[in-house]
Amino acid sequence: MDPKSPNKDRRSTPQYAMYQRDNFWAVNEGLVPPFNTEPGKLEELAKEKLTESGWYYASSNAGLSHTHTANRQAFYRHRIIPRMLVDTNARDTATTFFGHKVAAPIGFAPIGINKIYHPLGELPVAKVAGELGLPYCLSTAGSQPIEDVGKAYGSSSSSGCKVFQLYMPHDDEMTVSLLKRAVEGGFEACFLTVDTWQLAWRHDDVNTSNYAFYKGIGADLGLSDPVFQKRLRERGIDVNNMTQEEKVNASAMWIDSIWHGRAWSWEKMPWLIRTWKELSGGKPICIKGIQDVRDAEKAVKTGFDGIVVSNHAGRQVDGAVASLDALERIVNAVGDKTYIMFDSGVRSASDVFKALAIGAKFVFIGRLWVWGLSIMGEHGVRHVMKSLLAEFDILLNVGGFKTVKKIDRSAIESYEKNYQLLPEKSKL
Ligand code: GLV
Repeated sequence: MDPKSPNKDRRSTPQYAMYQRDNFWAVNEGLVPPFNTEPGKLEELAKEKLTESGWYYASSNAGLSHTHTANRQAFYRHRIIPRMLVDTNARDTATTFFGHKVAAPIGFAPIGINKIYHPLGELPVAKVAGELGLPYCLSTAGSQPIEDVGKAYGSSSSSGCKVFQLYMPHDDEMTVSLLKRAVEGGFEACFLTVDTWQLAWRHDDVNTSNYAFYKGIGADLGLSDPVFQKRLRERGIDVNNMTQEEKVNASAMWIDSIWHGRAWSWEKMPWLIRTWKELSGGKPICIKGIQDVRDAEKAVKTGFDGIVVSNHAGRQVDGAVASLDALERIVNAVGDKTYIMFDSGVRSASDVFKALAIGAKFVFIGRLWVWGLSIMGEHGVRHVMKSLLAEFDILLNVGGFKTVKKIDRSAIESYEKNYQLLPEKSKL
């Protein structure tokens, strides 16, 4: 690719497609590309690098992994229809996300306990997201304090946006404390996850007692919370002076208060929306984990500002519908009434494109960056995400789409649902 391509002067984002050239050119400088970002190879490499427990947790799905497989298969029934001789010399991947300018319709999905993938946990991930101007969602199950992650991302004033994903404790004072910290840490939106009152049955994790929090690992976000510290003191634990046994008990108590196994229902939602709006001065609050049209309609009626159509990447309900199929139904029902986002099973720029074409306004990526983090920390996350941005930019170029706005239903051909469930966990 010609580095003098005029596209670089016609866009508001870096010319991501150039990352292809950087990698091709590397050989002339005695360098090699960091690693292969083909998702199957990426996954294999992450497996080599991770401990057994890290690998099990990163790769685990609910039950037989059938929801994960369905998520992947759903992408194959939609095919992109490329357009030719479109002037993509003036193209741009930029879009907006709740009023924030962002580099592309691609964000970092909330994934907890990153310390099992890298000693610095969420910090390098947030740093790269901030650097690239992409939205970053911090999970309540994150393994770094909210404030530190906020700082690692940096300010989102020029480009980007930090989102705090809430697992809602059954302790209102603690919920308020978490939300307050998020607001003070510069987080500009809240996503409430409603599909994970507790983790699903995941065979390998259960069989290997693979629950880091019960080993005293990864509870930093909770242990740094003033209200949770008060709860610990009520049980005779001083967070600044804990024995190993107390640390394990404190970490367990933290996770048991957010993956508590106790459901919330719609009646509580107005309280949460009101509370977040008051604390944040009216910033957006969205609901994540919706798959059913009736729930989507209820979310709109209840006053959520957006919906993330997600089945938690197949990690919660085994044998569930593909998230991409749910997206189609939900867009048809409420796409004109709310801001619809998507995650679950995305592995490539063409997957992002297809979800946008079906009607999502924004797409979140999870396992791809987890694998990058596991392989090479900050460099790994950067390589994976820059490669995805490049792949997306190149797709717009060769597929004949000048901007994200041009991607609509006419850009894909969709076939009947006719899935034959693969007998084994799909590789991709
Ligand atoms: C938590 O969100 C998980 O999927 O393990």
